[in-house]
Amino acid sequence: MTKIVGPIFTGRSWEEYQKMFHLEEWELKNQSFLDCAAGASSFAAYLANQGGDVRAVDRLYDQDPQILRSLCQEHLEALIKSLEPIKKEFDWTYFRDLEHLQKHRYGSCQEFYQDYSQNRHRYIQGDLTRLPFDDDQFDIVLCSHLLFIYDHRLDLDFHLRVLEEMFRVAGEEVRIYPLVKHKKRKSEFLKPVWERLSEVAELELVKVDYQFRRGGDQMLVMRK
Ligand SMILES: C[S@@+](CC[C@H](N)C(=O)[O-])C[C@H]1O[C@@H](n2cnc3c(N)ncnc32)[C@H](O)[C@@H]1O
Repeated sequence: MTKIVGPIFTGRSWEEYQKMFHLEEWELKNQSFLDCAAGASSFAAYLANQGGDVRAVDRLYDQDPQILRSLCQEHLEALIKSLEPIKKEFDWTYFRDLEHLQKHRYGSCQEFYQDYSQNRHRYIQGDLTRLPFDDDQFDIVLCSHLLFIYDHRLDLDFHLRVLEEMFRVAGEEVRIYPLVKHKKRKSEFLKPVWERLSEVAELELVKVDYQFRRGGDQMLVMRK
């Protein structure tokens, strides 16, 4: 089995994004979006197909499409195997079971692969600590499943730098999901992040209509 040492390269679907970030139709139609650490998510592909204004950034977007497709499949298989013994810790409302989860994520991976192969301009290679974008370039900046869940590998300084950087390129707001790693406990970084960022941003915890990690039904919103 593949041993995954860092943040894995998989992707959630646009439906999951819509729920995790409480995205409304008018926003999807009228706002510009940046998906940060977008991985193999199908959010950008879907939204662009609907005529939306969207870019995605990830540190691996300098890789060839075939390489990213293989990586996504490999990480997805490893993820499913690693979830088997701990599946009771998750909420099986959105996904029926592991098979359903795997199919759904595989679909996102395929959609991503097609769009990434044909529309490379939408996918920008970059590190979240130094985003290659102007101040206020996007209305809404999203970040799913990187911050607060790898807090054993990514330290508080990394979290603060990334949050400040995403806030810099956001014209209106930044939304981050999830805030809970496991056992319904919020990341211990949330408190120091809140204290530091409330000096520059209006912060709010917003309940969302999505939960896979138990207790993970809130996003953090940073507004200008
Ligand atoms: C678990 S995946 C999440 C993908 C997607 N956002 C989702 O929710 O399905 C984490 C992603 O973060 C990317 N990543 C990790 N560290 C990064 C960094 N410093 N800058 C940019 N991307 C990074 C990885 O390459 C990977 O694609």
